[in-house]
Amino acid sequence: MMKMAVVGAGIVGLTTGAGFADLGHSVHCVDIDTGKIAQLSRGVVPYHEPGLEALITRNASSGRLTFGHDSSKLLQEADLVFLSVGTPSCDTGEMSLAALWSAIDQMEAWPESESGNRKIIAIKSTVPIGTAERAETRLRSRLPEHCLVEVVSIPEFMREGTAVRDFFEPSRMVIGSASAETGERLKQLHQRLPGPIMVTDRRSAELAKLAANASLAVKISFANEIAALAEQTGADYPAVAHSLGLDPRIGPHFLAAGLGFGGSCLPKDARALVRIADEAGAPQTLVEAAVRANAMLPLRMVRKLEAALSDPSRRRVALLGLAFKPGTDDMREAPSLRLVAELNRRHPGITLTAYDPEANHTARKALPSAVTICESAEEALRGADAAILVTEWREFRQIKADDFKNWMNRPIIMDGRNALDAAALNAQGVVCIGVGRLPVVPENARKAGDFVPKV
Ligand code: UDX
Repeated sequence: MMKMAVVGAGIVGLTTGAGFADLGHSVHCVDIDTGKIAQLSRGVVPYHEPGLEALITRNASSGRLTFGHDSSKLLQEADLVFLSVGTPSCDTGEMSLAALWSAIDQMEAWPESESGNRKIIAIKSTVPIGTAERAETRLRSRLPEHCLVEVVSIPEFMREGTAVRDFFEPSRMVIGSASAETGERLKQLHQRLPGPIMVTDRRSAELAKLAANASLAVKISFANEIAALAEQTGADYPAVAHSLGLDPRIGPHFLAAGLGFGGSCLPKDARALVRIADEAGAPQTLVEAAVRANAMLPLRMVRKLEAALSDPSRRRVALLGLAFKPGTDDMREAPSLRLVAELNRRHPGITLTAYDPEANHTARKALPSAVTICESAEEALRGADAAILVTEWREFRQIKADDFKNWMNRPIIMDGRNALDAAALNAQGVVCIGVGRLPVVPENARKAGDFVPKV
């Protein structure tokens, strides 16, 4: 059993803290946001993250998980401190390390009488290469000699929406440490969890995380560009993707074409890698292109809508889903934001309604007030001239063709995630236009030579 602390009560920090408490460790979780800490102390989790509230409640009531907002005494109280503060993008694409340095600078020394034990600070936040080394130098220059402290890099690969499962069943653990002894100690700590554990140096661990997110971004942008080519040449992208996925060297994951990648990590980390690489003199042209290609997708969707719907400025369009992916209420860098901006920019006067099963409360702050946030898909779709499926929530797959026809003014669905059964909808008179595939149009609506009937 170890005494641990976590700085930063975001999804990564909370899941890590509650997860280790569940494994029997004593964990104190701090955040400068006193409101958030007050909520957590009452057992309220401020995010939609499946299983997290139950995990926190269970461990808070056993006393193994506690919350606070003062990080000054953490090195006195804990042997291992995880840093999982945000590292948001600056305008330049650079990562801001302000929260990380502030957390490091607040940590006070512990009394000489209690020394002898080497304390470990593990950076879980995604950071530029060399940050763990800089953090250690900064801390050591401030602390008295008897305070032995080592900063390691343990990047986190968990995904939003499946964070709890990813904690207990990680794909891998990467431990970046300057000393073999600390690396071994941390390896033993993580051996309670399944999955391979690798111990390496700190810089490699830091780059491993940036490279993982960048390669996912590249894979998605590649999928989207091949899908665009399929669309232009009459091929069916889902069939192409299926065939790609059958090649074990390529694999079936992260080949879904649609509105592109969003969220708090992939876009930010890909941009940061491009900046870091430029400064290091090893430009990442592929990653840079992936970021650019991704940014074009919402506009591409608007153009496809324009091909199907005349005079969108005078129409009512429903957005189904707003979160950057299903299973979360997070709208950070969500494609829906750019989509709304493009729709409004190109078609002033357009009426937009929107519904998301979990992200409506986020949307009220994130979207312009002119977008009507609805309490159900039905409410959003009623009277709409077209709908765009933005986030592939399961409940949208359950909407029947008759519902689309009864609720909407014109049943035209732009399926931005290829989530719907286009053929079945088409057979019942609904126009369903996916990504990277021939638009499926009811026979009676198709004009000779036209893919899409303009209404
Ligand atoms: C990501 C990484 O997967 C995770 O390892 C890291 O720790 C944090 O960043 P997350 O941001 O939760 O996790 O989202 P992820 O599931 O990776 O999806 C990212 C985006 O890519 C979403 O917007 C999703 O809709 C999109 N995506 C994903 C696609 O467009 N196509 C795909 O095939 C897969």
